[in-house]
Amino acid sequence: PGGAAAVRREDVLIACPDNNVTEYIFEKIGVDLHRRPEHPLGILKNAIMDYFDETYGKNAFRMFDDLHPIVSSYENFDSVLVPEDHVSRSKNDTYYVTADTVLRCHTSAHQLSLLKQGEKRFLVTGDVYRRDSIDATHFPVFHQMEGVRVFTQDEIAGSELTGEELASQELKNMLEGLARHLFGEVEMRWVDAYFPFTNPSYELEIYFNGEWLEVLGCGVMETKILNEASLVNERAWAFGLGLERLAMVLFDIPDIRLFWTDDARFLKQFKPGMFRSGGVGMQKFKSYSKYPPCYKDVSFWLPDESTFTENNLCEIVRATAGDIVEEVKLIDEFRNPKTDKVSNCFRISYRSMDRSLTDDEINELQETVRESLVEKLGVTLR
Ligand code: PHE
Repeated sequence: PGGAAAVRREDVLIACPDNNVTEYIFEKIGVDLHRRPEHPLGILKNAIMDYFDETYGKNAFRMFDDLHPIVSSYENFDSVLVPEDHVSRSKNDTYYVTADTVLRCHTSAHQLSLLKQGEKRFLVTGDVYRRDSIDATHFPVFHQMEGVRVFTQDEIAGSELTGEELASQELKNMLEGLARHLFGEVEMRWVDAYFPFTNPSYELEIYFNGEWLEVLGCGVMETKILNEASLVNERAWAFGLGLERLAMVLFDIPDIRLFWTDDARFLKQFKPGMFRSGGVGMQKFKSYSKYPPCYKDVSFWLPDESTFTENNLCEIVRATAGDIVEEVKLIDEFRNPKTDKVSNCFRISYRSMDRSLTDDEINELQETVRESLVEKLGVTLR
């Protein structure tokens, strides 16, 4: 009730100069993969909730997983102190429904309103939306879980540490415990980070498939946010983790697009009770045979006043070809010294997760992509 499914199509796909939500993105609203107990994202969400129940006592943290993804830009940015000129506010990075309404780009958008409602320990799970480049670990819609825990004046007074030290220490211990609960022995490292809403701020990275994957951001909440919720002389920690990234490591899922498939060869490998703490004896995902990729290059001159961005290109590619696009990569760039014109060449890798693609269909898609690039981005094809 009141959940994401209640969204009305006309609220999102409205003709408004600021609206940059494509049909492809719109259709993801209300799918709510994180609310399916038999889906890897639901299994992971429940495994994390179990860790909080075990660590803090049953239901010590209040769970929210049906807060609507359309929020005001105040909630998404201002309420968590994102500066007026921060890049994340741009229409290149964020989906705007209207000039002051967005598809949330993080679950932090709900921090302040929940604190104002008097919540002191909570978890928020939800779908978040970001315009971005395309590869095996990035998809424009993904899922986050946010955690917040407030330390009262009494708790701080009863400790030898300052409020900030107390929050910082518990946060790191708790998250390392969570990583061990999920993965057992896994290589991890803390990296100093910056978020407008926490100070100090950290990121946790986990080693997976030969690279360090950033899996969560966290820190001690800026007191300005707490004060705004009338919490004076209290401190809090907050974290936000990416469920897909963690699920990819936990189950050995090689490509982020798989979370969206309805192919039984994927779905039947996941069951509600399958999680094993530390991954001990847990079934990993067995990749079914990969279908051959099909590469298409597109070269063009950028328009003079450069409004061209890679995110805009990727948006068009997704809107046209959907999730059969595996990667979009800039493979060549040069400036003509005489005309000062810049040329880019992008390689688009098409590969379906569940079937072979035909030459004809890819040629047709590529042609539509090329036409849209001219029409929407003003490039000149070469
Ligand atoms: N909102 C941050 C992100 O999306 C994560 C975060 C949450 C960081 C809470 C600190 C505290 O990356």
